[in-house]
Amino acid sequence: MRLLTISGSLRAASHNTALLRAAAELAPDGVEVQMFEGLDRLPHYNEDDDTDDPHGEVQRLRDQIAAADVVLISTPEYNGSMPGHLKNAIDWASRPFGPGSSLWGKPVAVIGASVTDYGAVWAQDHLRKSLGLAGARALEFELAVPKAPERFGPDGELTDPETRERLAEILQGLVDHFERAAQKQSAQKPVKAA
Ligand code: FNR
Repeated sequence: MRLLTISGSLRAASHNTALLRAAAELAPDGVEVQMFEGLDRLPHYNEDDDTDDPHGEVQRLRDQIAAADVVLISTPEYNGSMPGHLKNAIDWASRPFGPGSSLWGKPVAVIGASVTDYGAVWAQDHLRKSLGLAGARALEFELAVPKAPERFGPDGELTDPETRERLAEILQGLVDHFERAAQKQSAQKPVKAA
């Protein structure tokens, strides 16, 4: 299973990026994890620029999403929602709207961390809603990591046992989801006549 992770934070010492680094470490055997880098290099979405020959960074985002079996996004919360640069990436990835977009039908799980008591739950909700409207399959896994500074060590390692356990459960859940979907797809394949 190819898992693409996307952090909604651009900060070098980001808790959300650290959470995704922990996810890569806790992923079950056989899961190939790639982290998308460069949300900050995407241009602002502009329909005039959304042509058949898009900006190179836009194409890179779309290609990496298209190549992934499952996407895992960790978002901080800015003023009660997801950061603008993350929404911008979703907007680019959602076009051309319909089966031609990299997000169409893509299973996407959302988690989040914040320094406050709430764990970016509003940002996660808004992100799931946008993903659903874009035609992605927003999965029902939930992980809200509140008071993030208390759960990571000085080098950004995820030290909180409960969060590690829940994250590992989600990763196993993503593998189970992927395997079930693959089985369903192979059962639906028409049998070739001899
Ligand atoms: C925040 N933060 C924040 N936290 C929260 O729980 N709800 C919120 O609405 C906001 N709003 C907000 C706005 C802006 C502009 C900033 C910069 C920050 C705090 C936020 O949770 C904190 O900065 C996180 O640590 C960001 O995640 P990373 O960068 O550590 O991944």
